[in-house]
Amino acid sequence: MMFSNHKDLLGLKTATREDILKVLDLAKEMKKLVLSENKKSADLAGKSVVTLFYENSTRTRMSFELASKYMSASSANMTATASSVQKGETLIDTGATLDQMGVDVIIMRHNMSGAPHFLAKHVKASVINAGDGINEHPTQALLDLYTMREHLGEISGKKVAIVGDVLHSRVARSNAYGLNAMGAHVVFAGPTTLMPADDLSPLKAEYTSDIREAVKDADVVMGLRIQRERQKAGLFPSVREYSKFFGVNDEILALAKPGALLMHPGPVNRGVELSTMVADGEQSVIREQVQNGVAVRMALLKILTRRENL
Ligand code: CP
Repeated sequence: MMFSNHKDLLGLKTATREDILKVLDLAKEMKKLVLSENKKSADLAGKSVVTLFYENSTRTRMSFELASKYMSASSANMTATASSVQKGETLIDTGATLDQMGVDVIIMRHNMSGAPHFLAKHVKASVINAGDGINEHPTQALLDLYTMREHLGEISGKKVAIVGDVLHSRVARSNAYGLNAMGAHVVFAGPTTLMPADDLSPLKAEYTSDIREAVKDADVVMGLRIQRERQKAGLFPSVREYSKFFGVNDEILALAKPGALLMHPGPVNRGVELSTMVADGEQSVIREQVQNGVAVRMALLKILTRRENL
């Protein structure tokens, strides 16, 4: 079940294939509007949406804001660093304040794993997790699944290699849960110091420290950003060494299936996780991922504000 308490999207850990397909099918309709000359529907007329971000963002925050506007919601941004959070206001009091203002959906990013789950228990508004610590980033995984489906058709049975800082990556976790539900085969590759020590089994993924083994015959190669802001010092010797052993370049990508998709959630550290040649190359769908993010987030806002069949 993807939508918890009949109102929130907090993660994909319990998502089913049917839940995911419902979002992806609706996003396909929404993408037509994103690509049209008249980006306006009345789907969220009369609804209000607030982004509540305690961490920086470009893609997630902007795409939610544009999705809300394209669907005629009243939308507002709250940046924690420029709010009464700086005066010591608690998360519950912040949520209660937004509830009293009549907010229907709170889209939240926080550096603490579980913060959106906590907020969701204390507000009437729907809460969408826009990334919580190292836990989950469900809307990123849904847009990634959308992008894979658009190119590959059926995701079931496909091999997806996820390369890099898995330990600190909420994108890796949500993708693994979503890909498991869709029947894909997930292989993680990275330095042992950047792999979860004990929770790979719930993620149902293989792990190898050999990037070549992970990428061989893959249908999708997904690079992950090195999450420096979450790393303690010393998890790999140097950026140059990391790039040499775990960077995706044209030689590594050539080991995947012909025409395999190259993905990355962004922002990309060019020359570290991906070479510029592959990031901008023919197999890269990184820019499509961004475009699909708007459509997927429109679909989620529509589903959650209707609260139908959740
Ligand atoms: N992929 C992603 O979450 O990007 P932002 O941090 O720019 O939102």
